[in-house]
Amino acid sequence: MGLENISKMLAKARQEKYAVGAFNILDYNSMKAVIAAAEQLNAPVIVQTSVATVKFWGTKPMISWFRQLAESAQVPVAIHLDHCKELDVITDCIEQGWTSVMIDASSKPFEENLAISQQVVDMARPKNISVEAELGAIVGVEDDIHVKHQDAHLADIEQSIRFCEKVRPDCFAPAIGTAHGLYKGQPKIAFELAEQIADKTGIPLALHGGTGLSEEVFAKCIALGCAKVNISTQLKHVFIDSFVDYHNSNSRQYNPLKVLGAQYQQLKEMVNENIKLFGSEGKAN
Ligand code: 13P
Repeated sequence: MGLENISKMLAKARQEKYAVGAFNILDYNSMKAVIAAAEQLNAPVIVQTSVATVKFWGTKPMISWFRQLAESAQVPVAIHLDHCKELDVITDCIEQGWTSVMIDASSKPFEENLAISQQVVDMARPKNISVEAELGAIVGVEDDIHVKHQDAHLADIEQSIRFCEKVRPDCFAPAIGTAHGLYKGQPKIAFELAEQIADKTGIPLALHGGTGLSEEVFAKCIALGCAKVNISTQLKHVFIDSFVDYHNSNSRQYNPLKVLGAQYQQLKEMVNENIKLFGSEGKAN
């Protein structure tokens, strides 16, 4: 099965009312754990890369790890560039073989966001690469993107319709009240807005800020039209805590492969739990 475009993956998810998990990996070990968890549950999955991670490793090593893992995977897997404002990074990922990219021009005025997003679609689509685009401003920190509370705002319904009619992204990320990072208190999700956007645009929605949302919120958002759920902060926490916990309980153990093995197991379990929550278990075929 292996490598697959997200537009096909998300269309099926939307139709069958489940969501595909998109996990922001950090290295080979976490990429492998994400794909192994999806294989274990016979689920489609999206390996997501932040711009900071892409810059840290470089596109060539990352795509070679991915190809090696994806080609032998028994489930559909995609590699997606998360929130990117830089056209040269998008171009590099497209050339190297990412199966989808996210253009995040949401900090620009509406018309400018629309024009830039359209430019990315024009660049990607002839190569069969899918595009996610954002409208509104999602509060919180996602690597190099910081949106303060006073700057956050929900997507506007009329603008969402116009944006999607013009740009036709494969996946649309309207700000609906979720946040990147850890929630302080109960998030106020604009469910009605999400439903209206999903119904009126017909485009599968991406639910950003997946870390810390409840089972009920996931279920409701997925029922309304969210077909992709992003998880980053939770993966970062497990990535670091698993190392620390292993070392605390085995303080004389200096075999790094044992530590990496413990980290791999915990990452895999975390991805496993999320796939079950999103309803994508058994949806690989
Ligand atoms: P969290 O960091 O809240 O999991 O959000 C992830 C995300 O939306 C990445 O774009």
